[in-house]
Amino acid sequence: MIIGGSASQSLAAEVAKELNDKLCSVETKKFPDGERYFRIKDEIPEDEKVIIIQSTGYPQDENMMELFFILDTLSDMNIDDITVVSPYLGYSRQERRFKEVECISAKAISKLLQSMGVKHLISINLHEESICDLYDIPVDNLSAMPSIAEYIRENHEDKKPIILAPDKGAENFAKQIAEILNTDYDYLEKVRLSPEKVKTKTKSISVENRSVIIVDDIISTGGTIVNAINILKENGAKLVDVVCVHPVLVNDAILKISAAGANKIHGTNTLKSEVAHISVATTIADHLKSLENQ
Ligand code: R5P
Repeated sequence: MIIGGSASQSLAAEVAKELNDKLCSVETKKFPDGERYFRIKDEIPEDEKVIIIQSTGYPQDENMMELFFILDTLSDMNIDDITVVSPYLGYSRQERRFKEVECISAKAISKLLQSMGVKHLISINLHEESICDLYDIPVDNLSAMPSIAEYIRENHEDKKPIILAPDKGAENFAKQIAEILNTDYDYLEKVRLSPEKVKTKTKSISVENRSVIIVDDIISTGGTIVNAINILKENGAKLVDVVCVHPVLVNDAILKISAAGANKIHGTNTLKSEVAHISVATTIADHLKSLENQ
């Protein structure tokens, strides 16, 4: 039985279809004062395995609260075989203490989810792999790169674009996609030219007259991508596309990236977004199938 939270209903429907599983009928709404309501409308036998699919991106608190309501309702129904798939797991960016006595938000979330009966957590491209260590239950951090690579293969006009990470931290994403597409990859690095002067450039490949696809896990304000586009254009790139796993895209990020000269912007449907053209349903469904066959 698959339950789709209100942040991920179409993704839940796609996963249920791929698995040939039943999609639970639920009722979700907001009261006039903004509080959330949740109700399960189907019968669920006590021994049923239930998979909740709910991203916990913006509005994070509401989506997280709805996830807690789903978990508590299942607990009242005496259902305890519960897997949560949160393709975008909110509060993951504060996974450690950067200043003294800060709240480690990702740890607080891990305590809440586990205390509410989650037995297995699945997410996609968690901000840091170390988030898995905050849990005592199994946590599977799946990669959206195969789905992104497939999308590029089917839709991009140039069959051999350079896949480019905007920084060293994202290099592995570019590498995974480039290996699937059998094309080049690189990342941007800062080189100090003098004590006062720093230049950002591609590590080893010239982008002159080449199509480039910039890949990152998250695009939030768009600042990282705009900076990368500017450098690529200065260096003579022919066409620059942008792709990410989690299209957070706050405020006018799409506009800023387009104005910088991006040809197209694509994200996956871990979050609802106007650029969520790439589905991670198969990635999730295949993983759930593999767990069943273990
Ligand atoms: C950083 O660790 C992430 O991989 C992204 O590069 C970052 O979140 C992007 O943020 P923004 O779009 O605000 O530059």
